[in-house]
Amino acid sequence: MKRRNFLINITAAIGGLVATKAIAKMGDNNMHETMCDTNSDKCQKGDDMHQHMNMGMNNNQMPQKLLPTSALPQGMSLPTLANLKNESNQKGVFEATLHLKPTKVALTPDLTTEFWTYNGMIPGPKIEVFEEDHVKITVKNELNQPTTVHWHGLLIPSDQDGNPQNEIPAGGSLTYEFTIPKGTAGTYWYHPHGHNTVAEQVYRGLAGTFIVRSKHDPLASIPEQHWFFSDLKLTDKGQIADNSMLDWMNGREGQFVLINGSYRPKIKIDSATRIRVWNSCSGRYLNLSIPNCDVYLVGTDGGLLAKPYLLTEPLLLTPAERAELVIMPKQTGTVYLQSIGYDRNKMGNVPPEQDIILGELTLTKSDPITLPNTLNHLPNMGPAVAHKLLEYTEVMDMKEPRGGVLFLINGKRHDMSRIDLKSKIHDIEEWTIFNNSHMDHNFHIHGAQFIVQSHQLNDKKTQPEYIALKDTINLRPHEKLTIKIQQNLPGLRMYHCHIIEHETTGMMGQLMVE
Ligand code: C2O
Ligand code: CU
Ligand code: CU
Repeated sequence: MKRRNFLINITAAIGGLVATKAIAKMGDNNMHETMCDTNSDKCQKGDDMHQHMNMGMNNNQMPQKLLPTSALPQGMSLPTLANLKNESNQKGVFEATLHLKPTKVALTPDLTTEFWTYNGMIPGPKIEVFEEDHVKITVKNELNQPTTVHWHGLLIPSDQDGNPQNEIPAGGSLTYEFTIPKGTAGTYWYHPHGHNTVAEQVYRGLAGTFIVRSKHDPLASIPEQHWFFSDLKLTDKGQIADNSMLDWMNGREGQFVLINGSYRPKIKIDSATRIRVWNSCSGRYLNLSIPNCDVYLVGTDGGLLAKPYLLTEPLLLTPAERAELVIMPKQTGTVYLQSIGYDRNKMGNVPPEQDIILGELTLTKSDPITLPNTLNHLPNMGPAVAHKLLEYTEVMDMKEPRGGVLFLINGKRHDMSRIDLKSKIHDIEEWTIFNNSHMDHNFHIHGAQFIVQSHQLNDKKTQPEYIALKDTINLRPHEKLTIKIQQNLPGLRMYHCHIIEHETTGMMGQLMVE
């Protein structure tokens, strides 16, 4: 393939306004050389990958024509997330049904797009329960392929957690049943976790929120908003685009980022507000900037922090991470909610990262409040009695049709029938995860919330600035991360990169807890 076609492929793949800029910048000359000028490490990698991509793209990659971003309306007011209705009238029981089905959604009066949805909604309905509630959710799969529902972050039995081994066949149904443990109030979500199908099912729309509340929530009196970020990539015909080769390599990024299913909505902040934020994007890293406000981080994946932490930089949320914020406007007015360009060292010739506008915030009042000093009592994990080491690597594989590159954990690709690691139930373990690759990846594990102990990059070791319950955490290229973790329920648990394309192509392992 000639360079010229190659460039067209790339720019078409990223679409929209960014592509136009990229073309203008790149023109006909050699983008690759530009990269070499600024970063010799990248130059090396660019070289390998460039050749490799030229080969790969000869096979069957057609350029993707994408819908211009002007085609979707923007500036509507932020929709609130609809609740999944509790069908039980028994106290402490939450019972409901989720229907998975193809659903036509009119994005504009003359543009109808087929999504795959839970109960016809984008995003899926919000599940809200209290600690210690008993949850019984029947899932009816009306797709033409198997699926599971994984309750991301919840500490529930492994056989109810939607492992790829427990698929619901096309046309089948399954009832998930579990009790929410005490002390696990937090911000969770649900999404498919079948074998080989997760990337497509998520980018077609399957994901929803799951909030666990505490009856003794120290922030209960603060008004609350929910910002569920998802990514949407539409073809010029307005249909959901397939993944391009770049999507499979780097994680999918569409031309639209939605909040609660709405493109660049208007959000009104009338007072100090608690905001639960989800990054449910397949591959997009969000680096949230909320101007003209004091932004306190009060909670992470698994619940509240010990005490509020005032953010001084944008908040990086990688795919699947959540945060709870309290924002206090410092002055009134209208500002953009943005994601500040974050270079995660993607492969191939991709344009530089740009700041993107996610929405518009109208701050009507500046009325700061005092947050409680103590929010939560986090577990004091004692000394580790076992140690584990995970290593992320990248290899090229021409036989892999989806991108031609594989990301491995400890040299292996996911195999549903293989146990990669074993843990003893209740043991406190120290895990070191080494990202021995050129790109950022994150790490997610099922069944437990962990506490990060240290980050090590280029021989520089740092401690986290606050102690937090996490189930997903980012790793820079060549970063070594140490966590403490305790699995308190027996059974099989997955761990993987949550760039969904990487997970789906096999960057996943299996832990047996006994
Ligand atoms: Cu959010 Cu293994 O998943
Ligand atoms: Cu998970
Ligand atoms: Cu990854």
